[in-house]
Amino acid sequence: MDLTAAKIRDRLGSRPFKFYEQCASTNDLALELLAQHPLVEARAAAELICTDEQTKGKGRLGRSWYAPPGTALMLSLILPLTNRHELPRMTMLGALAIAEMAESIGAPGVGIKWPNDVQLNGRKLSGVLSEANWLASQGSSQLQGVVVGMGINVRIDFSDTPFADSAVSLEPAVGHSLDRTDLLADLLGRIDYWYARRSSDSLFEAWRGRLNMLGQPVEVRQPDGVISGIAESVDADGALYLVDRAGVRQRVIAGDVALGGV
Ligand code: BTN
Repeated sequence: MDLTAAKIRDRLGSRPFKFYEQCASTNDLALELLAQHPLVEARAAAELICTDEQTKGKGRLGRSWYAPPGTALMLSLILPLTNRHELPRMTMLGALAIAEMAESIGAPGVGIKWPNDVQLNGRKLSGVLSEANWLASQGSSQLQGVVVGMGINVRIDFSDTPFADSAVSLEPAVGHSLDRTDLLADLLGRIDYWYARRSSDSLFEAWRGRLNMLGQPVEVRQPDGVISGIAESVDADGALYLVDRAGVRQRVIAGDVALGGV
């Protein structure tokens, strides 16, 4: 087994972590932990919750996320954060760290599909779900920290599934077996690096530089409809700018992007 508590302890040294062979959702566990101990400044950076299987894994936009045991890297990090303006940077940071990790082992065609799916040649390798914890006090709410959840396909066999053409795993992409604990250790190093630079231009530039749909016609699916246009640019808060057929520019902050339309 390439991902166990003992292996993680060996690789991570003093970093606090919790490992579950099975849990409902690492994001939910991390959010509970954060709510119980809201003094985030006193916590170690990037506390980790990791599992081999989730029974109620959560995806973006209310979707679910599941991977068979032994096939994926599923984790949540509790990141201390009190400045709400830095929230979009946490999602950038997660996607960027995964993209860099995939590049470092030679995965082909690494790109980020706005805002935070990591793809290999246009097929989904991984998703990031960031969830903030707020503490209500005296009529306003104060950010206490953020949970960044990541699911990375390592050896999920998508053939004979509805995702055969749209999803991909790392091992078949690089052509050899991988150790999930090694991937985890590499990923955490990159997250620590970018977390320390979370308000820098370099984080934004590195994320933007990997976006794979800029300049192309796209459709953005949102709860209240679909917008289409040319994906023109992004801003430092992670928003996407679309220019529609009439030349009107729209700022989009969330949604599901696909190539096409216009
Ligand atoms: C997406 O692409 O929709 C985001 C998927 C995020 C999945 C991960 S798996 C670990 C963590 N715990 C969860 O419940 N979800 C995230």
